[in-house]
Amino acid sequence: MKKLVLAALVGVLATAPVLAQDVATGDPQAGETLFKRCASCHAIGENAKNRVGPYLTGVYGRVAGSGPDYNYSNAMKEHGATGAVWNDAELSAFLENPKGHVPGTKMAFPGLKKPEERANVIAYLKTFSPDAAQGAAAGAPATGAAAPATAPAAAPAQ
Ligand code: HEC
Repeated sequence: MKKLVLAALVGVLATAPVLAQDVATGDPQAGETLFKRCASCHAIGENAKNRVGPYLTGVYGRVAGSGPDYNYSNAMKEHGATGAVWNDAELSAFLENPKGHVPGTKMAFPGLKKPEERANVIAYLKTFSPDAAQGAAAGAPATGAAAPATAPAAAPAQ
């Protein structure tokens, strides 16, 4: 009996790192399908426009709440003012529970509870922010890549 349990445990442990790696990498194609849940509010791609939410082209590596010509909630602007940059960790925390991570955000989305779904969507977002994504992957400080994006945030909202 004991041996069986042990064998089962070893099996679980052996597959765990593989799973973790898949989650960390994410599949942009699966993310594209998932993005349909975001597309009612967010556009992405060349010439994308702000809708209910800001367009998400180039969002990866950018300071939170700093997209051009979008009227963010004060909560999101304050989140950006604390230095929050949309890297893997920030995006994952926000997409898991938007109102839990940025209390007062006007993003009315319940969240993606599955880690692999978040990883896939993030991988998809990265394909529209290639420079920033590469920098972050190489361990370069994401704030460097995001710095120019802070300028439009200084423009008066409205
Ligand atoms: C019901 C509409 C809605 C849906 C659905 C939605 N969002 Fe949002 N999203 C918003 C709004 C509105 C904001 C601006 C939040 C604020 O200013 O507080 C936002 C903000 C964001 C931001 C921060 C952008 C920035 O420039 O700082 C990201 C990233 C984001 N959304 C990603 C997603 C992803 C990925 C999905 C799908 C999994 C999604 N959103 C689904 C409405 C939505």
